[in-house]
Amino acid sequence: MLEILNEWDNASKEWIKSLEFNQLRTNILIPETLKMLGDIKGKRLLDLGCGEGGYSRLFSNKGAIVVGVDFSENLINEALRQNQNNEIKYYVRDACSLEGIGDGNFDFIVSAMCLMVIEDIESAVNEAYRVLKSGGVFLISILHPCFGFEDYFKEGPYQEFLSEHFGEPITFWHNTLSNIINCILNTGFNLKALNEPLLSDNDSKIPKILFLKFIK
Ligand SMILES: C[S@@+](CC[C@H](N)C(=O)[O-])C[C@H]1O[C@@H](n2cnc3c(N)ncnc32)[C@H](O)[C@@H]1O
Repeated sequence: MLEILNEWDNASKEWIKSLEFNQLRTNILIPETLKMLGDIKGKRLLDLGCGEGGYSRLFSNKGAIVVGVDFSENLINEALRQNQNNEIKYYVRDACSLEGIGDGNFDFIVSAMCLMVIEDIESAVNEAYRVLKSGGVFLISILHPCFGFEDYFKEGPYQEFLSEHFGEPITFWHNTLSNIINCILNTGFNLKALNEPLLSDNDSKIPKILFLKFIK
């Protein structure tokens, strides 16, 4: 865990810089996330693995009461720096152990492009279940797990450069689609919707991103 935390802390500057050019996030991930969430005005929302807080600020601008957590202190510091009205609460936390956050606290939890970099997704999902209200929404986006692997059934870590601008690779965790979904269903969540958005890139014949929406 410490090694992966160091990877994100070390990559934090490059990650923040890369967001300026991240078309996937701007043109696909964010609009699809907002569409799948629906009305969040006045609702309590946890941004799980919030990074530098880009999504958190957006949710706050849409009227949600937002808490962002990430295990990278460097990324949380950047989120705090950009938290101009101090409206968003940010905490350095491991998603697998959300100490200090009470049970049934949130109407929505969004985990944007985070679960596929967590080794112990079972603990993270258990914590999400604990802090979500009954009837609350858990929205996940991940790299689609069904494509791009030579051996789809071989689960475990692999390393990848986030883009050519990064000096060091980041550790990702591959899990099969059934293991991801069954892990979340076994916690007690109900699957409400799946979404494999079409990328604007006309050459793409396979989905790159998978959204999963669950209800507690
Ligand atoms: C691909 S980035 C996504 C950040 C943000 N959600 C976004 O889309 O801009 C993945 C994030 O997950 C965070 N992360 C990875 N493992 C984590 C863990 N165990 N607990 C909390 N955050 C974690 C990283 O620090 C990083 O900010």
